[in-house]
Order: sequence, then structure tokens, then C-alpha cells
Amino acid sequence: MRKGSPVSADWDPGSPDVHRDQRVAYDRQRTTCPVAHDGSGTWTLFAHGDVVAAANDAKTFSSRVSSHLNVPNGMDGDEHAAYRGIVERYMGPDRVEALAPTCHAIAADVIASTPRHEVFRAVTLGARFAVRAQSAWLGWPAQLEDTLVEWMADNHAATRSGDHVLTAQVAQRFDTIIRSLIDRARRTPGDDVTTQLLAERVDGRHLTEEEVVSILRNWTAGDLGSIAVSLGVVVHFLASHPDLQHQLRTAAVAGDRPVLEAAVEEILRIDDPFVANRRLATVDVEVAGRTIRAGERVVLNWTAANRDPAVLGDPDAYDPPAHAADNLVFGTGPHACPGRALSLMELAVATSELLVATSRIEHAPGQEAVRETPPVGGWSRVPVLLG
Ligand code: HEM
Repeated sequence: MRKGSPVSADWDPGSPDVHRDQRVAYDRQRTTCPVAHDGSGTWTLFAHGDVVAAANDAKTFSSRVSSHLNVPNGMDGDEHAAYRGIVERYMGPDRVEALAPTCHAIAADVIASTPRHEVFRAVTLGARFAVRAQSAWLGWPAQLEDTLVEWMADNHAATRSGDHVLTAQVAQRFDTIIRSLIDRARRTPGDDVTTQLLAERVDGRHLTEEEVVSILRNWTAGDLGSIAVSLGVVVHFLASHPDLQHQLRTAAVAGDRPVLEAAVEEILRIDDPFVANRRLATVDVEVAGRTIRAGERVVLNWTAANRDPAVLGDPDAYDPPAHAADNLVFGTGPHACPGRALSLMELAVATSELLVATSRIEHAPGQEAVRETPPVGGWSRVPVLLG
């Protein structure tokens, strides 16, 4: 490894090791070379302290990583704050609590149609639940469900393929869906989130259609996927830890959502499927003895940072209260996830309904769970049996 100006690669983000098991590979990388250059202008930060420092220093590590409009994720400073204020209004505690009973009903319905005593894929269950919960939140028509589930699967496949043309086509399809919802909201304004977004103002003017599309795209494209993938991780963890499963089933029967939310956040810390976010260095900056040059790309690897023994001790030890303050599943700093409360409610409710409806969740004998490959995290297959 060279100090100062890097020329050669410290690591290969596409290596077979990373494809086999990202979590193991990132753990190793954090230990051997926690600030690593890939040889083509991109640095990855793996250590908890470095990731936290960079995420909280938006002047040095800009979120303006692409020329595409990305509201508010790809903005900095005052501009980011203005749009972020709008986005937060839709994810506040009042909205989350109002949605909780609907999410219970959706989860119970999805779980009731899940086969018993035969193998099913937890990720599929998550996708169906995520789409319905999101549609309820946004006030989107129920008939859109199948279109969105199908779109999510195609989007996932396109992201995984790394094929930019395919990814652009899938993104275009989504924009068409969103624009039809915007047209509908313009023609017949209702009480739905799309109508409300169209009435939002920034700098004394209404949001443009492009901005509304970008906001809805971020919520749906990025975040639907993370809810579905997170449920896969939670189900895998519960099947692997029967004692914890028993303990959480008791909490679920008692209707103790705070315990389930804390459990979900801790399980996602141990096995974080929301792997990374990007930044752009605005000035030359030194991180742990390595010099990152202005204009170089920087990746914050949440999965590795969330398992850094220097801060968290044994990364695999399940201990929600001990790890809550350092948990980075929802990020940190000005871009920290505004959807955290919404996500934890949805995930806790779905987990709770699954636990209450079953007496046990087990790995399907003889069938291996299969991990996702970059840039997607979590599990692509979690074959389980419900008892
Ligand atoms: C388990 C589910 C989720 C996880 C793990 C997650 C994680 C994250 C993380 C780590 C960030 C920080 C990004 C950065 O620093 O660049 C983030 C940002 C964001 N998340 Fe989430 N998220 C989840 C679900 C959601 C949901 C359901 C929504 C909304 C519907 C949402 C909306 C956003 C938005 C708008 C941002 C950008 C905030 C900004 O730039 O100020 N997220 N999320």
C-alpha cells in the first residue's frame, strides 16, 4: 500500500471474494487497509471513525456525485437543507403512527397468503409488503401493486447487471409510472402525497415536475428495495437465532413495537444490506494517513463501519442498547436517513406479524441462503419454512 498519492489499487471491489460474501470481504478490508483505493479514482472508507467523520463533513465530502437531479440526496449546504425540510414533513411521527395500523393489516394479509410447511423466499414476501406499505403511505392506487413489484424486480436485476443502458431503460419506465400519477394528481387533486408534493414551495415557487419525480423516484426506487432486502436479512437472522426469535415472538405477542424496532436496527447493523453511499472530495484531504485528492470519488461503506470492533466490540454480539448510539444503518450527518422512523415501523410491524402468525421460522433443510452481489447487499435467497 502506498502512502500519499496512490497509483496502484489497494483492493478490487469486484473481486471474487467480494462477490462471495461482501460482509466477510469488507471486514477483512477494514482490518488490512481501511482507506482503500481501487486504482481508478475511487476511495472506500471502511472504519467507523472515518465514515462518521466524512458523513459529517459535507463541505469536504460533497454529495453532488452526479450531474443528474437527485432531491435531496445529491445536494449540499443550503440547497440541501431547503429540500430536506420538505421531504422530512412526509416522514414525521404523525405520518408514521397514522400508517402503522394499515401496515399491520397489510403484513397480516401478505403473511396469510404465504405457504406453510413449504419453502418460500423471505425476500419475495418483503417486496410485496414493501410495495403495499409504500403505496398506502403515498396514497397510490392498489392496482399499481403488480406493476411496482415487477418493476422492483427488474430494477434490482438491472442494478445487479451493471448494464447502464438497461438501468436507464428501467429508470425510464419508472418515470413514466410516476408521471402518470402526477398527471392524475393534477387532474383530480386528492389527499395523497403526490398531490401534496405538487403544492410544496421552495424559494417562493412550486417544485418543478422534475423535482417531484426525483423525490418520488428516490423514495420508491431506493427505499422500497431497502425495506424488502432488510426483511430478508431479519428473517435470515431470526431463523439462525432461535432463542432471539423466541424472545422477540413474546415481545410481538405483547405488542411491544419499541423492542422490535430496536431489534431490527441491531440485526441490520450486524448484517447491513444498505452497503454504501458515495461522496466527492472537494479539496485534498488526509484520512488515516492517505491523501484523497480533490475530485476523487469516496465511498462510505456502512456495512463495514457497522462492524468495526474498535467501536462496537464483537460485531456479531446482539446487544441493541449497547450499540444504538454507534449504529450507522441509517447513516449520520446532514444526509442521515429521514425515513428511519418510517422504515423501522414498517419493518417492526412486518416482523411482529410474522412472529405472531408462526410458532417457528426455520432455514429450509438442505437449501442454502444465497448472498447478493455488489452493488446490492443482503440476501438474494433466504429459503425458510414457517411452522
Ligand atoms: C431499511 C431501510 C432504509 C435504510 C437502511 C436506509 C438508509 C439510508 C442511509 C444510510 C442514508 C444516508 C445516505 C447518505 O449519507 O448519503 C439514507 C438517506 C435517505 N433515505 Fe433512507 N434508508 C431506508 C429507507 C428509507 C425510506 C423508506 C425512505 C423514504 C421513503 C428513505 C428516504 C431517504 C432519503 C430521502 C435519504 C436522503 C436524505 C438526504 O440526502 O438528506 N429511506 N437512507
